[in-house]
Amino acid sequence: MDTKEQYARYVLPVVAQGVEPVVVASARGRTVTDVDGRDYLDCFSGISVVNAGHNHPRVLAAAREQMEQLVHCCSYVYHVPVVGQLAEKLADVTPGDLKKSFFGNSGAEAIEGSMRLAKQATGRREVVALSYGFHGRTIGTLSITGNSARKRNNGPYMSGVAFGPAPYCYRCPLGLKYPSCEVACAHALKDVVAQQTSGDVAAFVIEPVLGEGGILTPPAEYLSIAARIFHDAGALLIVDEVQTGFGRTGKMFACEYSEGVQPDILSMAKGIASGFPLGAFTAREPVSDAMKPGDHLSTFGGNPISCAAALANIAVIQEEKLVENAALRGEQLMARLRLLQEKHPIIGDVRGRGLMIGLELVRDRKGKEPAAAETKALRAKLREQGVLVGVGGLLGNVLRIQPPLSITPAECDRVADVLELALSKMPTA
Ligand SMILES: Cc1ncc(COP(=O)(O)O)c(C=O)c1O
Repeated sequence: MDTKEQYARYVLPVVAQGVEPVVVASARGRTVTDVDGRDYLDCFSGISVVNAGHNHPRVLAAAREQMEQLVHCCSYVYHVPVVGQLAEKLADVTPGDLKKSFFGNSGAEAIEGSMRLAKQATGRREVVALSYGFHGRTIGTLSITGNSARKRNNGPYMSGVAFGPAPYCYRCPLGLKYPSCEVACAHALKDVVAQQTSGDVAAFVIEPVLGEGGILTPPAEYLSIAARIFHDAGALLIVDEVQTGFGRTGKMFACEYSEGVQPDILSMAKGIASGFPLGAFTAREPVSDAMKPGDHLSTFGGNPISCAAALANIAVIQEEKLVENAALRGEQLMARLRLLQEKHPIIGDVRGRGLMIGLELVRDRKGKEPAAAETKALRAKLREQGVLVGVGGLLGNVLRIQPPLSITPAECDRVADVLELALSKMPTA
C-alpha cells in the first residue's frame, strides 16, 4: 500500500482529504523532493516554519549532538543547560523588556499559557481578540479565534471573550479607506472594551499580521493605538508572533514595525526551531512572576533537542542575515506581484510584510467576489510547475507565499515567472 492509500484508509479524513497530492521524501534548503525524485521550490515552509530552510546543517548538528546527550528528563523537574541558554537568548532577541520564558510544544500551547499568565498577573478574566484572527485549535485558543469555520462543531466556547473589527483594509468592515479612516478599526477597540466587556479585561491578543485570516496587514500605527487603549484600560498586550516571528516579516518580530510598542507577553512557535516542535512565551517582569511553582507545566515543554535546534536556528537567522534577506526579497517579490496585479484583474490585492505575502483573488475587481476555487486551481498549477504555495484566508481566496527566508533573487523571479505563466492560463485571469 502506498502512502496516499495509507492516508486515505488510516488517517482521519480531517487530514487526509485536504492534503496536497505530494508525497514528500526529503527536503533541503528551499527544495522539497517527492518520492518520485521530483524537486519543488518550497514557498510555504511547512506553514511558515522552516525559516532557516529545511534541514539546515547547523540546526541538525545541534539537535543531533543534544540527542546524544539527553533526549528528555523533563525540563520542569530538573535544570537542563540548553533550556537555560535558550531562555537567555530569547530575552536577548525579543523586543523591549521581555525577559522570562515558558516553553511548551506548539503555538496553541504558547497562547494558552500566555492568556493564563495574563489572567494571573492582572487578576482579571476577560480577553479581547480580533475578528479574522487565529490562535490555535484548543478550546481556549479557538475561543479567541475570530473565524467561525475553524470553530464549527466544537462549542460552546470560553465566555468572557470580545472581538474587535478586523484590520482588513481591502474589505474594511467599517466601510472606510486608509489613510483617511485614521485607523478607525484600532480606535474602535476602545468601544469594544467599554461596551462588550465588563471592564475586567486581562489581555488583548493580536497577531501583528493576521496569517490564517489571509495575511491581513494592519497599518503600522494600528498596534501602537491598540496597545495604548488596552494599557490605559489596565489590560496586557499579548502579541501572537507564532507565525510572524523569527524574521518572517523582515524584522525579527513583526511588532517591531510599530514604534514604541512594548508587548507584555510575546508568544512564539513555528519558526522558533526550524521544524523541531517547540512553543514558547516570553514575558516582561513583573508580569512573568505572577505564575508560582505548580501553576503551569508541560511534560515535553522545553524538550532539550528542540531547544538546541532553536538556539542553532536563531544563530543561523542572525549570522546568515536572514531577517535582512526576508525584507529585501519580500520587496522584490511584492514589486513583481504588483506588476502582475496590474495585468490580471483576478488579483484583487497584494499585501504582506517581508516574506509573509498574500495574494487575494477575486472574480471581479469591483464586487470583490472571492475566487476560492480559482485560488486552489492556481496553487495546483504552481505545483505542476514545481512551486509549492499555500491557500488561506477566511474566504479561502488568498494565495500564501511564505518561503524559507534564505530564498535568492533568482528564485523570487522564478516564483513570479511561474505565477505569471499560470495566471495567463487561468480562464478568468
Ligand atoms: C498566529 C498563530 N497562532 C497560533 C497558531 C497555532 O499554532 P499551532 O498549530 O502550533 O498550535 C497558529 C497556527 O497556524 C498561528 O498562525
